[in-house]
Amino acid sequence: MKIFLDTADIDEIKFAASLGIIDGVTTNPSLIKQAIEKRGGSIDMEEYIKEILKTSPGPVSLEVISVTYDKMVEEAKLLYDKFKPYGEVVIKIPICSSLDGENNVYDGLKTIRELSDYGIPVNVTLVMTPEQALLAAKSGAAYVSPFAGRIDDYIRDKLGMKRGKDYKKADYFNFNLMKKLESEKLARVISSRDLSSLAEAYLDEEIREAASAGNDNGIYSGVDLVKSIVTIFRNYGFKTEVIASSIRNARQVREIAETGAHIATIPFYVLREMLLHYKTIEGINAFVKDVVEPYRKIFKEK
Ligand code: E4P
Repeated sequence: MKIFLDTADIDEIKFAASLGIIDGVTTNPSLIKQAIEKRGGSIDMEEYIKEILKTSPGPVSLEVISVTYDKMVEEAKLLYDKFKPYGEVVIKIPICSSLDGENNVYDGLKTIRELSDYGIPVNVTLVMTPEQALLAAKSGAAYVSPFAGRIDDYIRDKLGMKRGKDYKKADYFNFNLMKKLESEKLARVISSRDLSSLAEAYLDEEIREAASAGNDNGIYSGVDLVKSIVTIFRNYGFKTEVIASSIRNARQVREIAETGAHIATIPFYVLREMLLHYKTIEGINAFVKDVVEPYRKIFKEK
């Protein structure tokens, strides 16, 4: 699995690249905002992006800022032509750029097709369902980015949990536990009913609600979303690569790797979290303490 760094912070990109473990970078307008704020707001944006491209060992995703077909195509071509000489530019296009769910619903798809036919690699962003990923692949996208962490947020929010109060952004979502809780609750609701037929049970509001509470239309977690997309792409031999995105913790990276996703794009803090374990630190302390003098002497000899 390739690892991309999900950041626009050049210091983080330089450091991770120097370790030789990243294969690319993904940015979005929010990540660029954070990086600029860290630098006090004043920055030569073009030079900054060129530096990111020169530092990254692989593709760098840059996102358009408009939401209509004409504008997105224009911005994508501008970004691609301006920055292509400095590295491997990939353009991020939202799967659906409609701001109200009514207008411009197809503009994302039209843009992906236009850019892909033109030879610009597209990373389709804000993918929240396997169906969206399938359409992105059919439109010729080079990459799709399912937002795993945001789906975990959505399911927890649906259940009445509040981010910041009941769970932190970086907390692991134990969807296996949630699945068990959901099926136990469903069993309790079913047994509390006096049902005469399967149809009556199937149509019962409370039963249906209990069966859908802990999932998003059959998707139980962000990892489940990625797994479904990987399976669909494998079934039909799509060339589109899956970038598991919106990754929030190390355990999620493990589960993403188990799905067979091509790439995980991770924030810098997750990289650090992947390295740390209590027993590793305890172990290194014990090894350092146990070094005997004759063994130490070997390292002193010239
Ligand atoms: C990556 O391409 C996405 O922009 C990013 O992973 C979103 O992550 P977030 O949900 O933690 O903001």
